[in-house]
Amino acid sequence: MRDINQFSITKSVKESFKTEPGSRFEQLLHGLIDHLHDYTREMNLTHEEWIGVLNFLYACGKISTPERQEFILLSDVLGFSALVDMINSRGGATEGSNLGPFYLPDAPTKALGADLSDGRDGATILVHGKVTDSLHNPLPGAIVDTWQADATGTYPIQEQGQGQDKYDLRGVFSTDEEGRYYYTTVLPKPYTVPYDGPVGDLLRAGNRHAWRAAHLHYIVRAPGMNAITTELFFDNTEYLDNDAVFGVRKSLIAKLQPAGKVGDLGYALEKAPDAVVGFDFVLAPAG
Ligand code: BEZ
Ligand code: FE
Repeated sequence: MRDINQFSITKSVKESFKTEPGSRFEQLLHGLIDHLHDYTREMNLTHEEWIGVLNFLYACGKISTPERQEFILLSDVLGFSALVDMINSRGGATEGSNLGPFYLPDAPTKALGADLSDGRDGATILVHGKVTDSLHNPLPGAIVDTWQADATGTYPIQEQGQGQDKYDLRGVFSTDEEGRYYYTTVLPKPYTVPYDGPVGDLLRAGNRHAWRAAHLHYIVRAPGMNAITTELFFDNTEYLDNDAVFGVRKSLIAKLQPAGKVGDLGYALEKAPDAVVGFDFVLAPAG
């Protein structure tokens, strides 16, 4: 009969799984067991605390739906999502950042120069730049897929059924022969991540707010290159230093300048902008 105690139990649990020796699954599973057991021993976890953790996870599951993924939000506010983004960002390429819950894979294709604001109030910004490889060679035909909140900090998809079209404030662009992309849209405002559930309780327990710095979301891809999922932040926006999901990176903050100061950049635009933001995306080769 095996004699398990609070130290030997870790090995016994790992050995109870008949995993393929040296496989990635085994590595991940054993690492998880090691760290969770170490944490439990180091913290001297009480029954009440452990039940508290399980009840919290139960509450996260209970409130989750395909549209409301509380576990992803938990990963976001604990910095796990950002950590995975950082670990997987390729040297030389634009840094990755949160996908968030509002991406739609079938957003409409738009012509360069289009206005995405669909008549919404707010300052009009020109967003422009190039998609290049890490040697600054332009990538013509690269796909720039973008989505964002409006000037009240709301994603149209959050107000479907209240007269909003979920495809508004989104567009999929193809870069021109110089690798350029350009369009106008409304300047988004900061907004809060959902805080009416268990993750909100966690934020309140830790005296944290739920605000995100204003941003534009992007997935940028090109044949033969690694696609990036990232966000662009404005240099004048609030919460750059305390974004609720740790999405802000220094390299992803772009300067928002009055259009008058920048002058005519020579783009054919559907709408005249009030302000201009420039940002180049850099993709690394696949593999
Ligand atoms: C967002 O950027 O859209 C987002 C990210 C994490 C949680 C909630 C929203
Ligand atoms: Fe967002």
